Order: sequence, then C-alpha cells, then structure tokens
Amino acid sequence: MHKVVRPKMLYFGTPVVLISTLNPDGSPNLAPMSSAWWLGDTCQLGMSSRSRTVENLAREGECVLNLPSQTLVAAVDRLALLTGSDPVPPYKAAMGYRHEPRKFEAAGLTPVPADLVKPPRALECPVHLEARVREIRRIGGEDSHLAAIETQVVRVHIDEALMMPREGDYIDPQLWQPLIMSFCDFFGLGGTPLLPSRLARAWRPPVAAS
Ligand SMILES: Cc1cc2nc3c(=O)[nH]c(=O)nc-3n(C[C@H](O)[C@H](O)[C@H](O)COP(=O)(O)O)c2cc1C
Repeated sequence: MHKVVRPKMLYFGTPVVLISTLNPDGSPNLAPMSSAWWLGDTCQLGMSSRSRTVENLAREGECVLNLPSQTLVAAVDRLALLTGSDPVPPYKAAMGYRHEPRKFEAAGLTPVPADLVKPPRALECPVHLEARVREIRRIGGEDSHLAAIETQVVRVHIDEALMMPREGDYIDPQLWQPLIMSFCDFFGLGGTPLLPSRLARAWRPPVAAS
C-alpha cells in the first residue's frame, strides 16, 4: 500500500558537494549543497538564489565542486548552519544560521589554488571539479527562490588513491566512498556492490595486462 504525502523536502539521496566560490572581496566562500547531478562534462546545481553562493556564481561565473568522502562528515556538518551572506537573511537567522566569512577555517579544511578558476579547491576532498557557469535559470513558481545552475567542468582532480591501478582515468567505485545526504541526514554507501553491473562491463572494458 502506498500513501499520498506532502514531504517538506525532496532530497532522495544525492552526493554532498562543497562548492567554493569567491566573495566580492576576493575571499573564498564554501557551502555544502547536494542537489547536484552530472551529465557529460556538465554539472547541474540546484540552489537557493538567496545564498551567497548563487550571488557569487552569478557575479564571478566560476566555482570548484569539491566532493567530500564519508570521513569528512564532521567538516561538512560544521558548515551546515553558516552562510557567507551578511546580513544573514531573516528566514535563515530564524533557523539559527550565522554569518561566517572564513568558512574553510570553520570547517577545518585547507584551501589550495585551482588551475583554471579563481576559487580554491578543498584539499581534503578526494575529488575537485573546476567549473564555469554556463547558465543560471530561476525555477519553480512565481514566488520561488530556487535557481538551476548549469556549469561546465573544465578540470578534474582525483586523489590518486582512488584510481584503478593500470587502467585509464577511472575511479575505482569500491574505493570511492561519497558522502550522501538523504532528506536531512548523512549516509555513506553500504559495503559491497549488490551484483555485477552490466553497465560497468559494457562501459569499462578490461585493459589487457602488460
Ligand atoms: C549537506 C547539505 C546539503 C545542502 N544542500 C543544499 C542544496 O542542494 N541547495 C541549497 O540551496 N542549499 C543546500 N544546503 C543549504 C546551504 O548549505 C545553505 O543555504 C548555506 O547557508 C549556503 O551557504 P552560502 O549562503 O554561504 O552560500 C545544504 C546544506 C547541507 C548541510
């Protein structure tokens, strides 16, 4: 039996992204978000247009999408009720958010320069995607404050420890342990793959041993 419900949130479980952007004074902002999906070389982001991040993306047109592993859950959680916006929007202040101009320090993460964009990468995250904004669209109804942001990933950095030995530029899915936000809670991926994937065999043909 199914029941018709009206959930407040529709995050069904997507990887957490720490998105770094540049503030107007040139300092870095770092914000957790999880409404993100990838296709080809693009990443689509869904964010509140009232966030400092979207303001920064609209002005600067650049970001780094840092993907934390499960082990970084405490760092992500430290950013949860922070905003780079000053003053804090009233709806966020009412929920307990505070302004934090030094988000990397607050999270305990290390900013390191990116190659092609100005915002820094978060060193401790195993995946860094340098990206440029292609389009920002308002989505939702009349009174919506939601934005859909299309970005193009222009450079990919992966922790070598996650790469498949001998193979091309493949991440080993058994080593990659993304942090997942499902509704408002943090999860990892459960242990081993459930069954051999046909897609993996078709898309990742074995490389002949040398
Ligand atoms: C794990 C996690 C996931 C989040 N996902 C989103 C999201 O997908 N979209 C969004 O607008 N806000 C999301 N938020 C809330 C933002 O992080 C929050 O609005 C934050 O204040 C943005 O920072 P900024 O104002 O400095 O840009 C998420 C928060 C957490 C902790």
